Amino acid sequence: MQVEGDGAGSAGDRKRGLASGAHQRRGRLSSGSEKIDIPAYAVAQRLSEVCGEQAVPVSTGVPELDRVLSGGILAGSVTLLGGEPGVGKSTLLVQALGSLSSAGNKSLLFSAEESAPQVHARAERLGVLGSGLLLSAARSMPDLLRVIDEVSPDVVAVDSIQTVEEPETSSMPGSVSQVRECAGQLAALAKSRGIAVILVGHVTKDGSLAGPRALEHLVDTVLMFEGDRHHALRFLRASKHRFGATGELGIFEMSVSGLKSVEDPSGLFLCDRRPDAPGSVVLPVMEGRRPLLVEVQALVAPAPCEAAKCSAQGIDSTRLSLLLAVLERRAGLSLRGREVFVSVVGGVKASEPSSDLAVCIALASAASGRSVAGDLVAFGEVGLGGELRQASQASRRLGEAVRLGYLSALVPASSPDPPTGMALLRASTVSEALLLLSLVPEIGAAQSRAHALAPYRPRDRRGDDDDVTCVGGYAS
Ligand code: TYD
Ligand code: MG
Repeated sequence: MQVEGDGAGSAGDRKRGLASGAHQRRGRLSSGSEKIDIPAYAVAQRLSEVCGEQAVPVSTGVPELDRVLSGGILAGSVTLLGGEPGVGKSTLLVQALGSLSSAGNKSLLFSAEESAPQVHARAERLGVLGSGLLLSAARSMPDLLRVIDEVSPDVVAVDSIQTVEEPETSSMPGSVSQVRECAGQLAALAKSRGIAVILVGHVTKDGSLAGPRALEHLVDTVLMFEGDRHHALRFLRASKHRFGATGELGIFEMSVSGLKSVEDPSGLFLCDRRPDAPGSVVLPVMEGRRPLLVEVQALVAPAPCEAAKCSAQGIDSTRLSLLLAVLERRAGLSLRGREVFVSVVGGVKASEPSSDLAVCIALASAASGRSVAGDLVAFGEVGLGGELRQASQASRRLGEAVRLGYLSALVPASSPDPPTGMALLRASTVSEALLLLSLVPEIGAAQSRAHALAPYRPRDRRGDDDDVTCVGGYAS
């Protein structure tokens, strides 16, 4: 079997590649005497001859959205914007489309969920009425495709994909097969015409978009918009992004005139902190390339019943259980029989392992009732042996701390030198770190080493547990 045609196999064409119009040609597949036409995009090409030109992202005019999209939106891309009802998806969409329109990108919004007067009122409130943004109330796929044909837009947004229907598909609008069919047609259109498509999708009760994994594979980018409806802060994250990194976090504040990009999130997270309160520690986290300072809080209280409770917000609850075990076995701080609460203030997720040390310090501070120095930050990963391990991008974390007036840092012993003006407290083990802050009473060096390195021995087999409890004096 061989590929023939007006160029697919010829030496001249192989030199010219896709950029010289190879995508216009059609290939012919010959199998014996039978010739089958194959579309140009399907013709096999040497990878080295494929046009390697990268499309340039176009700014959406919303800085925090651009940050998460690695610069902006790309022609021919499909972006899914997900989030719970009321979080602000339509607001973000209208703001971005308004800016894109004002910048000369013909933008078309299909608002099947809200009436035209509602969208008009929102656009007025957001100050984008004069942007030239086009609105259509079309709901069925054939209508949508006709309008797109007529308008030839650069950007198409559908709010929401759950309210659009394909009459050819027998199931109800909003069902997984309908949503998948409509999204598939729009994705094919985006690729064939180079239109940037944005689909809004509501999350289902289990937190996934329009049913488990229904759309994620069809789109290039999945953005999740999160936030507590009772608070103004909103967080935008990319859980999938074919054109850039996924670690960036966009932070917004919902105001009376729409979503405002938050310029100085660290300052905002720490503005209400009470530094003298036991259980409070400042933690520098990395969100993508941006360092953020957040407050970790812990509360340790007597358990009202046998089954002690352990609750985590902003950190993984399994990680919290692990740290409680390490504190008990390696630092002699047992919180058995207590209720333990840990929270990262402001709704940020401090899921990276370098948050461990701050969580341990917050727990020890809460258990002892002693506060830590108000200008201290702490970070570092805690190993199962109680050892402290270096965090990535330590210099950037420390730089952000200095910028906000935090002048001392408790870090793993192997951390790089601090920026000017900052004093470093270095510790090799979590036990040493707690001792440096006087959160556990002084114990001998040999004992401290023993806590750091002691192998785990189950209580029931040994019959005694003198070496693991009460060393810190806070065991129940
Ligand atoms: P919306 O964008 O409609 O949410 P979604 O599309 O995710 O369902 O926004 C919902 C909330 O945002 C609503 O309760 C009103 C509030 N809001 C403001 O506070 N300020 C504004 O300028 C706008 C447009 C909305
Ligand atoms: Mg909406």
